Amino acid sequence: MLQEQQLLSEIISEASPLTEALPLSSPEGRRTLVKLDPDHPGFRDPAYRARRNAIAQIALDYEPGSPIPDAPYTEEEHGLWGIVRSALRPQHQSHACAEYLECVERLDLPCDRIPQLREVSEKVQALSGFRLEPVGGLVEPRVFLESLADGVFLSTQYIRHYSTPLYTPEPDVVHELLGHAVLLANEPMAELNRLVGEAVRRTTSEEALERLARVYWFTIEFGVLMEAGEVKAYGTGLVSSAGELDAMQRAELRTLDLEAAARQEFDTTTYQPILFCADSFESMYQTLRDYLIRWP
Ligand SMILES: [Fe+2]
Repeated sequence: MLQEQQLLSEIISEASPLTEALPLSSPEGRRTLVKLDPDHPGFRDPAYRARRNAIAQIALDYEPGSPIPDAPYTEEEHGLWGIVRSALRPQHQSHACAEYLECVERLDLPCDRIPQLREVSEKVQALSGFRLEPVGGLVEPRVFLESLADGVFLSTQYIRHYSTPLYTPEPDVVHELLGHAVLLANEPMAELNRLVGEAVRRTTSEEALERLARVYWFTIEFGVLMEAGEVKAYGTGLVSSAGELDAMQRAELRTLDLEAAARQEFDTTTYQPILFCADSFESMYQTLRDYLIRWP
């Protein structure tokens, strides 16, 4: 999916054509103003922008560690969630890995309404120890990635514009919950996310941070693996996007090689044409775990 690509693009390059992140007063850098780009589907919809800002404000007022306030979603927003889930359901059965499908069942997220971060966080925490905390939009990349070391996933709470149910140019609650939260309910994946955060903490140079961000991109965001002779997705950007799951079948698959992934450039504005494929979930887990533990 294209949405989180924006976040990662900020790791790779300071320049961002879509948003402008302005850190506010929070010492943790979590409070961020995100300015919509004119190409954003909701840019010319004042009602959408007001809704998005109102929900983002919850995160801007949020004190880390306190209970997450519920977002007052509208019926239209709940309906949009249902549309996205309906589009993804058959795609998941065909193209998502077994570990993802198992976690979808374990979390049992509602289909007819957007679940609140609070309730999803409680479920994920009970399963893997990871929890969600709200952010108002894009945060400084190091803040986002380092928070993983503490078992905290910083999550947006607003939803995409209704005109593009299968696409969003920025992280939204669909990507965060149907991508990240579901996979964080899997203990090995939760461990890998923590190890990414710890590796980022040990990273001092910008060049090394870029390499590590690419590894994150081609595994946790866009990783695929072999399962019973078929290519299946475990990357959050894939499993949260019907469009990406469709495009995945036409992508060039390369054998998972994390040194190669660390050097591989990617385009944030298109479906991913190159994916790194592990032999199995267990192989992916061991390979990435070893790499992150040894990092740098
Ligand atoms: Fe993501």
